[in-house]
Amino acid sequence: MYVCICKGITEKMLMDQIGPNTRSHDQILKNLGIGDSCGTCVVDAVKKILESQNNLDSKSKRSDS
Ligand code: FES
Repeated sequence: MYVCICKGITEKMLMDQIGPNTRSHDQILKNLGIGDSCGTCVVDAVKKILESQNNLDSKSKRSDS
């Protein structure tokens, strides 16, 4: 599924940028060029990044206890 149609960025390409040492969502958007054209994708892309980061945080907290 496409996150950014203008740049042809898929959800998988976005998720591949997210990991334990993830940079800020601004940096991820910039690296992929998300929002560089029409900008309508930015809100959804940031939501997906934050949800994914929260999921990673939850998993890491569960494995710590
Ligand atoms: S859909 Fe991402 S910049 Fe247009």
